[in-house]
Amino acid sequence: MGYTKTSRPRIFSGIKPTGHLTLGNYLGAVRRWVREDQHRADALFCVVDLHALTVEHDPARVRRLTRQAATLLLASGLDPALCTVFVQSQVDEHARLSYLMECTATDGELRRMIQYKEKAAREGARGGSVRLSLLTYPALMAADILAYGTDEVPVGDDQTQHVELTRDLAQRFNQRYGPVFTVPRATHPEVAARVMDLRDPVSKMGKSHAETAGIVYLLDEADAVRRKFIRAVTDSGSEVRYDRMEQPGVANLLDVLASCTGGKPEVLAEEYASYGALKLAAAEAVVEVLRPIRARHAELCADPSYVDGVLRAGAERARGLARPRVDAAYAAVGLLPPA
Ligand code: AMP
Ligand code: TRP
Repeated sequence: MGYTKTSRPRIFSGIKPTGHLTLGNYLGAVRRWVREDQHRADALFCVVDLHALTVEHDPARVRRLTRQAATLLLASGLDPALCTVFVQSQVDEHARLSYLMECTATDGELRRMIQYKEKAAREGARGGSVRLSLLTYPALMAADILAYGTDEVPVGDDQTQHVELTRDLAQRFNQRYGPVFTVPRATHPEVAARVMDLRDPVSKMGKSHAETAGIVYLLDEADAVRRKFIRAVTDSGSEVRYDRMEQPGVANLLDVLASCTGGKPEVLAEEYASYGALKLAAAEAVVEVLRPIRARHAELCADPSYVDGVLRAGAERARGLARPRVDAAYAAVGLLPPA
C-alpha cells in the first residue's frame, strides 16, 4: 500500500501558537525533539495553528505567533536536514481526517477530557461562550497524529489523556473499517515533564496564562529570567528537600535545575543550603540554556525567507506522507475515491 513505512519509527508532535514559547515547552517537549527524536526517527514537528482557533483569538497575533514558534523551533536546534518542520493549516489532510475522527469519537468521550472541562469552566466563569472546536479539539489532534502512521508522540505530561484517546480512536477505526492506522504511544521526559508556574507552583507553566510573572519565556532576557526566579514562590520552612507534595515550589526549582544541568533533583537538593542559593543556581542554569536559542532566533529573524523555505518544504513532504493514508481512511469508511 502507498502508506507503508520504513524501519525507523515515525514521530509526530505539535505545539500551539497561543502564546510565546515557555521554558515548560522547551524542557517538557522541544529539547527532546532536538537532542534525541530528530536523530533517531523520521520525525515531524508541527506548529498546530488550527488548534489556536479554539479560543478567542486575534488573527494578526496568531499569524505572528505561528511564525515565531516555527522560528524558535529552528533556533532551538531542529534541523530541517534531519526532520520535517511545518505548519498544520498548510497541510489540508489534518482538517480532512479530523472529520472522520469526529465520526469515530463519542460526545461523552470528548466531554471527559480534563483540558476541555477546565477550559470550558474558565470560559463559563468569565461569562464567555465555549467554541464547539474546543470540544472537538482532541479529534483534530488525533488526526494530526494518525495521518502520519505515527509510532511515538513525545509530549509533556499534560497531553497523556489526549494521546490515550488517540489510541482508542485508532483501534476503534481499525476494528470497524480495517487496519488503516498505527496505534501510537506517548513518550515523556524523565525530568521536567511538567514545569510549574514559578509564582503558583501547583499550576502548569502555561503560555496562554494572563498572569506572566511566574512564566519564563524562551525569548526573555537574562535579567528578566533572574528576576522571575528570585521572585519564585517557595514553601514554608527553609530546608531544601525534593518533595513534590509538601514542597512544590522548591521541587519545581530542583526539577528545572536538574533538567538544565543533567543532574538528579534528589541529589541536587543536598547541595543547596538555602532557597535563595537554589533560586540563583536555577536562574543561571536557565540563562545559559536560553542564551544560544535567543542568539540563533535573532539570526533567523534577519532571514525570513529561509524560514519560509523550510516551512514550504516541510508542508510539501508532510502532504505527501499524509495523503495516501487519509485517502485510505476515506475509502475505508465508504466514501467514493477522489473524482
Ligand atoms: P502547548 O504549549 O500546549 O502547545 O504544548 C506544546 C508541548 O509542550 C506539549 O508537548 C506539552 O505537553 C509541552 N508543555 C507545555 N507546557 C509544559 C510545561 N509547563 N511543562 C512540561 N511540558 C509542557
Ligand atoms: N494538544 C497539544 C497541546 O496542547 C498540541 C498538539 C496538537 C499536539 N496536536 C498534536 C501534540 C499532536 C502532539 C501531537 O500541547
